[in-house]
Amino acid sequence: MYNFLLGLHSGLRYIVLLLLAIAIIMAITALFGKKEYSATNRKINLFTLIATHTQLLAGLILYFVSPLVQYGNMGEAMKNTITRYWTVEHGVLMLFAVVLITVGHARSKKGELAINKHRAIALYYGLALLVIVVAIYQSARPLLGMTVGN
Ligand code: HEM
Repeated sequence: MYNFLLGLHSGLRYIVLLLLAIAIIMAITALFGKKEYSATNRKINLFTLIATHTQLLAGLILYFVSPLVQYGNMGEAMKNTITRYWTVEHGVLMLFAVVLITVGHARSKKGELAINKHRAIALYYGLALLVIVVAIYQSARPLLGMTVGN
């Protein structure tokens, strides 16, 4: 169960990152090109939201089965950089990113003009991508060749 979830959660990261990058590039291109909010924009933005929420669900279950999460012994967990990261930092940062994506998607739906829809995606999905990349980089696990040694 743990290995399956970790594999799923690990692999899904690439889908989340790829969809986020596509959604942001499409939104920025549309903003500069003053383009309409197309059906493709809407679908990509929605798939990004769904992939992120699936990742959230897998992450929440992992939180209760991972040996690196020690919420029952916070004092000890906080003393070690690895257990502190998985018990507190990863979840908090990723939850923040998921909230940004959820708000961005809601705003893109509410906006009446195409420019407002594209702007909401560029801004909120852009910030979320930044938070996710920083969080993964902090984890000391490889991301596209980047690692930090802690
Ligand atoms: C967009 C959201 C998220 C992304 C992109 C993400 C990404 C990742 C990545 C890349 C890993 C390392 C996987 C590996 O070692 O191969 C991981 C592990 C993990 N994540 Fe997330 N995560 C997200 C959300 C969450 C949330 C919301 C939680 C919990 C509240 C969570 C809990 C965990 C846990 C417990 C582990 C496993 C640590 C271990 O036992 O090795 N994740 N996540």
